Amino acid sequence: MSENLLKIQNVKKAYRKYNLFGKEISKFSALNGLNLNVEKGQIYGFLGPNGAGKTTTIKCIIGILEADSGNIIIDGKNIKGNNLYFKNKIGFLPEQVGLYGRLTAKESLQFYGGFYNLNENEIEKRGEKLLAKLGLEKDSNRRVGEYSLGMRKRLALCIALLNEPEILVLDEPTSGLDPRGVKSLRIVLKELNRKGLTIILSSHVLTEVQEICTHVGIINKGKLIREESIDEISKEIEKKSIKLLLKVKEFNKEHSKELSKNKKIKNIKQRNNGKHEEIILELKEENIPWVTDYLVSKGIQIFSIEPQKNSLEDIFLRETGGD
Ligand SMILES: Nc1ncnc2c1ncn2[C@@H]1O[C@H](COP(=O)(O)OP(=O)(O)OP(=O)(O)O)[C@@H](O)[C@H]1O
Ligand SMILES: [Mg+2]
Repeated sequence: MSENLLKIQNVKKAYRKYNLFGKEISKFSALNGLNLNVEKGQIYGFLGPNGAGKTTTIKCIIGILEADSGNIIIDGKNIKGNNLYFKNKIGFLPEQVGLYGRLTAKESLQFYGGFYNLNENEIEKRGEKLLAKLGLEKDSNRRVGEYSLGMRKRLALCIALLNEPEILVLDEPTSGLDPRGVKSLRIVLKELNRKGLTIILSSHVLTEVQEICTHVGIINKGKLIREESIDEISKEIEKKSIKLLLKVKEFNKEHSKELSKNKKIKNIKQRNNGKHEEIILELKEENIPWVTDYLVSKGIQIFSIEPQKNSLEDIFLRETGGD
């Protein structure tokens, strides 16, 4: 049975500026009645364009900012006035990792672990395991100032996990990481999730969300636009027509006419790029084999087949008002 772990209800948050006399001189509403639901065991991807309000929401969840109105309920408890209780439940990886350059990784863990009232031995034991899991054991006595961005992110993740939280919140965890770093982070997060950790991560990298998340919430201008499982979104994507670009040889107008006659293809365009005939087809994914069979049966050589756009990207752009 699914259990609700985080519920955000009609949350509003504005950034305000005041003059020297305390009079409000500007106000920008970043969250405009945001709702969302995360259940235990999910990897929830929080998706939205720049400025949508992802970081603001995350700061409200972990208590760095206080919402102006609405409710943030974690495990059945409203976070208002319960800050200490929640500090113990949530691990947080900020977008900009700020660590002390003079401390080594081990010293950093001791320093931050102190905030959780963990004793030195416990921190050391847990710290060693975490540093090994994130591939930092060899560098654990080096000063953090000498670390690369990827290493700092991994250390910050160790710190976020030190207190064995129930929820891990990560703000743009893969930004600045190289492909290997992205892949190893993905593996670590999936493993932690299998062991019961609920994960919330913000991103504007759609393939990232499609790859790792079980659920997705799309936000724009401080409001939730859609919230569903990746499976549901995938079903929708399957039903939708997609665009395919095929590079072929020996494809002529007759073939194009024959393909267009069939109801399986919604739209067809053809152009010559000097080397190949390029055909752009609009069709349902399930009809791709039919097209390739047809081309092969006519002796047409196929050089490449590429989808024109990531389908989640299509949905994202449509829902957030892009073109
Ligand atoms: N301290 C601040 N003062 C004033 N406005 C702010 C402040 N922080 C954020 N904002 C504004 O609030 C809106 C939401 O910002 P937020 O950082 O939450 O977006 P985001 O979805 O995390 O974007 P990104 O993908 O760029 O990280 C933006 O329009 C931003 O300019
Ligand atoms: Mg942000």
